[in-house]
Amino acid sequence: MTEHFYDQLQQLGGTEPLTDRQRLEALVKPLLSWYRGNARPLPWREEPSPYGVWISEIMLQQTRVEAVKPYYERFMRELPGVKDLAAVPEERLMKLWEGLGYYSRARNLKKAAQVVMEQYGGKLPGDFSLLLKLPGIGSYTAGAIASIAFGIPVPAVDGNVLRVLARLLAYREDIRKPSAKTEMEKLLPGVIPEGDAGAFNQALIEVGAIVCLPGGEPRCAGCPLSSLCLTRERGLWREIPFRSPLKKRKIQELTVCLILRGDEAAVRRRPETGLLAALYELPNVPGRPKEEELLAQLNILPGQVSEMAPLPESRHIFSHVEWHMAGYFIRLKDGAEAGKDCLFVERRRIRDEYALPAAFGAYSRLI
Ligand code: ADE
Repeated sequence: MTEHFYDQLQQLGGTEPLTDRQRLEALVKPLLSWYRGNARPLPWREEPSPYGVWISEIMLQQTRVEAVKPYYERFMRELPGVKDLAAVPEERLMKLWEGLGYYSRARNLKKAAQVVMEQYGGKLPGDFSLLLKLPGIGSYTAGAIASIAFGIPVPAVDGNVLRVLARLLAYREDIRKPSAKTEMEKLLPGVIPEGDAGAFNQALIEVGAIVCLPGGEPRCAGCPLSSLCLTRERGLWREIPFRSPLKKRKIQELTVCLILRGDEAAVRRRPETGLLAALYELPNVPGRPKEEELLAQLNILPGQVSEMAPLPESRHIFSHVEWHMAGYFIRLKDGAEAGKDCLFVERRRIRDEYALPAAFGAYSRLI
């Protein structure tokens, strides 16, 4: 006996191919029953509060589940509610986000928390359109919060879900185009089950994360949607989903310096706009200057240096640029100065209080 709507249809002698809509309707039951047995236990799934769902969904954008877990737990311990987030000092917020990347996500969280305090008495609104108006919340995140935390039957189409649906329907268009996402979002209302909206959306996310994999061969044998999947039927998993190639990343060379003086190290604040805006960094200069030139650019007099040695090269990949870094260790004599933008801070305080982006990790871990 089978529960699949599709099989039932075939048993009834229906030979017409299913419409997209019928295919989606047919997936609801097998998807939900698979999810009940296969959902990973994740910290934000234990008791999904609107705040916890919001924080986890923002962290999970561009970041893997395993990497997010410890950040999520620490964040929720330290800032357990909207009120705490709205009032957190910027530097502390950056420290809690240190290493997660895309720091504007954290700044938007705080801005949105302030709006929620002012306009909604500290409670996230249980309304898709109102959620969508908050800083940093797009249609995916609004859909995830509305469905998972409030049970509202609205779609939550992220990259995972887009891949699953594109494969299910053998959708050939470029899924990087915003229209791919909006087309899928339009197909889902009416399909999402009332009363199970959160499980439905998370189940699609889960299939995308652990079955319908992006990199290698999808695990169709364990997929609850395999009997409905047009891409599987046609053997097209290498072609679908289609993603147009990205533009090549620009390569920037820089020389990063770990400058120590006594028990202090030098840090400086990055510009207010652009890549890693307003975060702290290790002093660095463009290119590969010779030692003398490097010191000159950092406003360090050679007579004030007691030790100088190269450090290993390192690379960091951002979405649009790659940093190819050379490193220098520079020990200054007591009382020596560096450029006025350099701030000498006790090494222990840098470790505990300053957010240094992961891009500098190869050097900052020596602090
Ligand atoms: N990726 C995005 N949202 C997620 C969620 N709620 N659970 C697991 N992975 C996710």
